This record gives sequence, structure tokens and C-alpha cells, in this order.
Amino acid sequence: MEENQTINRFSVLVVDDEQDMLHSMKRFFRPFDFNLDFALNGEEALHIISKKPVNLMLLDLKMPGMNGLEVLKQARQIDEGIKIIIHTAHGAIADAVEALKMGASDFLEKGNSPEILRARIKNAYELWETQQENRQLKKNVLQSFNFDGFIGESPPVQKLKEMIARVAPSDASVLIQGESGTGKELVAQAIHHHSQRKNGPVVVVDCAAISETVLESELFGHSKGAFTGADTPAVGLIRSADKGTLFLDEIGELSTSVQGKRLRTIQEREVRPVGSTKSYPVDIRIIAATNRTLLDEISTGGFRQDLYYRLSAVTLTSPPLRTRGISDIKLLVEYFLKKLPHKSNNITEITKSSIQCLADYDWPGNIRELENTIQSALVFSNGSEITLEDLPELLSCKNSEIENISPEGTLAYYELQAIKNALKQSDNNRRKAANILDIAEATLYRKIKQFNL
Ligand SMILES: Nc1ncnc2c1ncn2[C@@H]1O[C@H](COP(=O)(O)OP(=O)(O)OP(=O)(O)O)[C@@H](O)[C@H]1O
Ligand SMILES: [Mg+2]
Repeated sequence: MEENQTINRFSVLVVDDEQDMLHSMKRFFRPFDFNLDFALNGEEALHIISKKPVNLMLLDLKMPGMNGLEVLKQARQIDEGIKIIIHTAHGAIADAVEALKMGASDFLEKGNSPEILRARIKNAYELWETQQENRQLKKNVLQSFNFDGFIGESPPVQKLKEMIARVAPSDASVLIQGESGTGKELVAQAIHHHSQRKNGPVVVVDCAAISETVLESELFGHSKGAFTGADTPAVGLIRSADKGTLFLDEIGELSTSVQGKRLRTIQEREVRPVGSTKSYPVDIRIIAATNRTLLDEISTGGFRQDLYYRLSAVTLTSPPLRTRGISDIKLLVEYFLKKLPHKSNNITEITKSSIQCLADYDWPGNIRELENTIQSALVFSNGSEITLEDLPELLSCKNSEIENISPEGTLAYYELQAIKNALKQSDNNRRKAANILDIAEATLYRKIKQFNL
């Protein structure tokens, strides 16, 4: 979508099969400073929506060919945020109610006075304007932060970045949850680098890697002669994070007895080294991360509830890659192609069908797995770009070939996406998928054949 145009001007699309109606709407909209488009049928309307940003669609329901409800549904699949006002003939109330259920924001009978229509358009415009302002404010906040190397623009990643920007300057403890490989460590680093402690150290403690026997002295330090081999005193990891951030990675792996000792440090911000009678104050911020669901662990006795509450003044969730959408996958791949070491070749491109194939995969290992996949593709590729042949079998990409036949922006492309989504949601149950798509099962069969799915 053309972002600048979205920010500058409100875009309206009027869809009506009657030429006269379109003419009178053209006159009606003349005083407004909007971007205007007109379509005589559903296909034309969807084509416009897929090509440029449309903020408001004024939609007739009764049209030959694709009816208004179908247009509404597909328009929302292309752009979830589009506002739709149903503008329909007298007597189509039942359909209008259905349209509201399907996500239309308003409806209006044709033949009402222009003042009423004007008021409704004004409402939609003012709402859009407020949303624009909010978006701009958030953008300003984010722009003052440097998220270099923190790739992603999808809504869940935007939300995460906003949360990081908001929580970083405070000294609150943060618990980062999320599946393995989703970038929890990157989140922790971003918080530290945007905090007042950014000039202090960030000390990473991998709770899963340190054995319990040495954990205590590793963390709390020890005095000289505290145990055999303790020839010199050690300050321990916690005190070495003084004036900085202590990042407790894989906190879910700690035994409950160590959890208890840790709790005291957090509560009192004091450390007593092993074998010492003296306690030392520490000035640390604690960030913890886990790929377990700690609340579940609490209920089974695996994690101490009191520690959980100490650690989770703020909880952030790093979203799984499969929820970040194709455009984030594309950004990440471009980033890895630049960042990862290449053999002699200098591959900087990847085919569209390969991107589609990557977007169709579930990524249980998330971004780490994607990074490894691109690394191996770089090793296997012989050409000047990464193609389907260079991707691992595991991704089973054959279906993506079809994308070449239906390029992005065409109606067939969106139809194909909708069918794929429905099949995915229904676990390949065609009857359920047909229901989701609201088409006859026979039609779905025909489409599956047509698209060679
Ligand atoms: N948004 C991102 N942009 C760029 N690289 C990322 C992003 N998120 C993660 N990575 C990269 O993916 C890899 C895995 O990230 P990280 O180690 O932070 O994941 P994690 O959630 O801590 O995983 P685990 O639970 O297995 O420890 C790292 O190489 C990291 O740099
Ligand atoms: Mg990690």
C-alpha cells in the first residue's frame, strides 16, 4: 500500500452498477478533498482495492455478477481495515443486516437526503483521521528508537516494538515469553539498549547451561577459600551486572531451590557470596526469558509463584514467526541474505515462489530456523538467486509454483490465498473450507483443480 497517500488523503471508492448513481455521487463528493474512485461492479472494485489504499467503500448490494456481500467479504480479505458503508435500495434490509454482521460499519438506504449521507461520511472520515493521528504518534515514538537489526513490520512485531519502547526507560522487571527462536534475547538486548542503563553492562545468564552445583557460586560469587579450589574470591555474575541489566535466559529451567535463593536477591537487591558473612548491595535491572508457559509450571509446582510475580512486573510476548505474515518473512530473508556469509557466489535475490513457500511453512523453530534455512540455501544454490530447488524438502514447496501463474495483485492471486487459508484453517477438510469461504463444495473442488492445489 502506498503509505504516503494513505496519510495525506482519505480515499473513497463508490461501487454501484447504475451509471446515474455514480454520476450523482461524483457531484456529491465534489466539495470534499478526497481521493475518489468509482467502480461499476464488484470485480472492478476488488481490482482497485488490491492496487491502492481505499479507506472507505460506499457499496451497493444489488448488482449483477458479484453481489455486494461477496464484494464486502473479499474486500475485507484484501484489506481488513477498510471501512464499508452499505448504500442500498429500499427493501434490502435483510441483506444490509447480514453485511453489518460481516463487518460493514454502517448502512444507508438510497434516496435519503444528502445531509444524512454527508453526516455518515463525515463520521467515517473523522474516525479515520483520529486513527491516522494515533498511528503517527506511535510512529514518532518508534522512530526515536533505533531498532536496527530487529527486523519486522507486521502488526504483532509493531506491537512488540511499541511495548519495548514503552517499558525500556523504566526500571521494571520484564519477563519475555515466546517460542524458541522467536528473538527473546534480541528483545532483552533492545530493552537494555534503550534503557537508562545502556552504558552499563548486560550480563547474560543461561540458566539451562549452568549446572546446579556451580550455579550458586557462579551467580553469587564466593570468598577466598569458600570451597576447595576457590583460591581467589569471585564477584559472581549478579554483581558483575551492577549498574546494568541481568538477563536470566531460560529461567523456566531453574530448580525450585535455586529459585528460592534468587528470589531473595531480587527482593533485597543484595548478594551474599558463598562462604562470606557479608552482603553486597547490587543495582541491577532484571530481564528474564522463557519458552515455557510459567503460569502452567506454577500450577504443577515447577515454578515458584512469588518469583514469577517478582519477575513479571511487565510481560512481553515474542510472537511466533508463523503469525508475522509474508511481508515480515520477506524482510527477514532480505536481511539474512545481506548478513549471512556467502560462499563464492553473491546471491542477493530470492524468487517470489520461494518466498511464498517459506510463508506457507509453520516454522516450529521460528526465526532461528529461517536463518538456518537461508544459510543452507546459500550453500546449495548454484544460480544467482535462491529458488525452490535450494530450499529443504521439509518445506514441500511444490504448490508454490502456482504463484507464478497468478501474480500478486490479480484477483486469482487473492482467491488462491483465501482458498489456501481456508484449507489450512479446516485441516484440509474441504467441506469445512467451503463453509469458511461461503461457496458450494463443488465450486471449491473446481477451484482446487483449477489452481492445481
Ligand atoms: N526480529 C528479528 N530480526 C532479525 N533477527 C532476528 C529477529 N528475531 C530473532 N532473530 C535472530 O534469530 C535467532 C534467534 O533469536 P534469539 O536467540 O533471540 O531467540 P530466542 O527466542 O532467545 O530463542 P531460544 O528460546 O531458543 O533461546 C538469532 O540469531 C537472532 O539474531
Ligand atoms: Mg534465547
